[in-house]
Amino acid sequence: MSQKTMILTDPDTGRSLELPVRESTIGPPALEVSSLYREFGIFTYDPGFLSTASCTSRITYIDGEQGILRYRGYPIEELAAKTSFLEVAYLLLYGDLPSETQLTTFEDSISRHSMINESLKRFFDGFHYDAHPMAMLIGVVGSLSAFYHDHFESHENITQEQRELVAHRLIAKMPTIAAAAYKHNLGEPFIYPRRDLRYVANFLNMMFATPCERYRISPLAERAMNLLFILHADHEQNASTSTVRLAASSGANPYACIAAGITSLWGPAHGGANEEVLKMLGEIGTVDRIDQYIAKVKDKSFRLAGFGHRVYKNYDPRAKIIRDVCHRVLEELADGSNPQFELALRLEEIALKDEYFLERKLYPNVDFYSGIIYRALGIPINMFTAMFAIARTVGWVAHWIELTTDPEYRIGRPRQRYVGEPLRQIRPIRQR
Ligand code: ACO
Repeated sequence: MSQKTMILTDPDTGRSLELPVRESTIGPPALEVSSLYREFGIFTYDPGFLSTASCTSRITYIDGEQGILRYRGYPIEELAAKTSFLEVAYLLLYGDLPSETQLTTFEDSISRHSMINESLKRFFDGFHYDAHPMAMLIGVVGSLSAFYHDHFESHENITQEQRELVAHRLIAKMPTIAAAAYKHNLGEPFIYPRRDLRYVANFLNMMFATPCERYRISPLAERAMNLLFILHADHEQNASTSTVRLAASSGANPYACIAAGITSLWGPAHGGANEEVLKMLGEIGTVDRIDQYIAKVKDKSFRLAGFGHRVYKNYDPRAKIIRDVCHRVLEELADGSNPQFELALRLEEIALKDEYFLERKLYPNVDFYSGIIYRALGIPINMFTAMFAIARTVGWVAHWIELTTDPEYRIGRPRQRYVGEPLRQIRPIRQR
């Protein structure tokens, strides 16, 4: 079968250019425009990348209209029901689910790499006691590049084993660094990772144990967090993942690239949304103030946090999975009588019936519920985005590996439409 093309004609000259259509396995194909500037001297213009594919990928598939999310071909609903976070991490990194032996080896490697260098630990002393955990994460994860810089002068020299080592180190150390940031805020001593605990249980222990008190890990808390980590593990070319890819495209140190991803994730329009949801619920305060709050959203004074998504325009499949878990967690851990959760459900109910939200296809996204669950699990609000960062590290490193092994990989260098001043002349300072 010959390749499909589309023809673009310049109305001024009548010249035509045949552009190849690159097929996808599923989902929309992509029109390849890389010859456009060379042939026609024109750029494409697409602010926010609404219609632009920035790369070719085999990792995650999303259909926003149908509410579909799949990692390496497996539906998120099945992964959420049948796998652990580290199985999903293996899947995203290596392309398929692990066998029992592969999983044991992988879990062992992650557990072995979970300690951080004692000098890196001392970096926390440089932060003020109330520094935001995301600010500390950006700094400390970026600093890993100072500890592991050998091999990264250029992408061409890195072996598969070295790439794996980067991935394992980052997945392993991220919970340790996030928990250390929390302990720094509290002024409590740092709790070392334990090799006898599973990934999520170990994180909970580093967060909540103290040297003088053991922490009893609730199986429900472990299950809920495992699920949230699975749901947040990857989401194809979102802002933070694209940031990691763009930073990595110059051949930069991968630990520094992940710090760039954390930076992008922190924004309230992205991973910062779950923190914003809780702040919003606090601001609304009581159910009788919801109407007044929604009126302000409609007059565009601000947006409803945790609603809307760039890709999912009917529903967010992750929100559907997590909504039920949210109920279960609150029933068991908060006696089902959490006023903030009741407020959230009323807000959801009212917003879902309102013309403004229906017309714009605005539905609760995954972070509307994740914040409420984290709160019920005792995670402080300013740690919510750090939790997201732990999970998304898996996606970031999977994309870093994919980018650095892609034969079509080139440094990312977007173009721009310049609308500034044309040529100007400098006048002597006294005449300005
Ligand atoms: N509350 C109220 N109105 C909204 C909201 C919202 N949360 N989101 C979008 N709108 C409105 C816009 O004002 C706009 O209205 P208009 O057509 O009258 O101008 C319309 O819906 C379309 O909005 P866009 O900004 O074009 O939508 P976009 O796809 O660019 O934005 C985004 C997506 C950034 C997620 C947005 O919905 C938002 O800001 N939501 C709140 C923050 C949030 O929850 N982010 C988390 C995303 S999920 C994640 O990162 C895991």
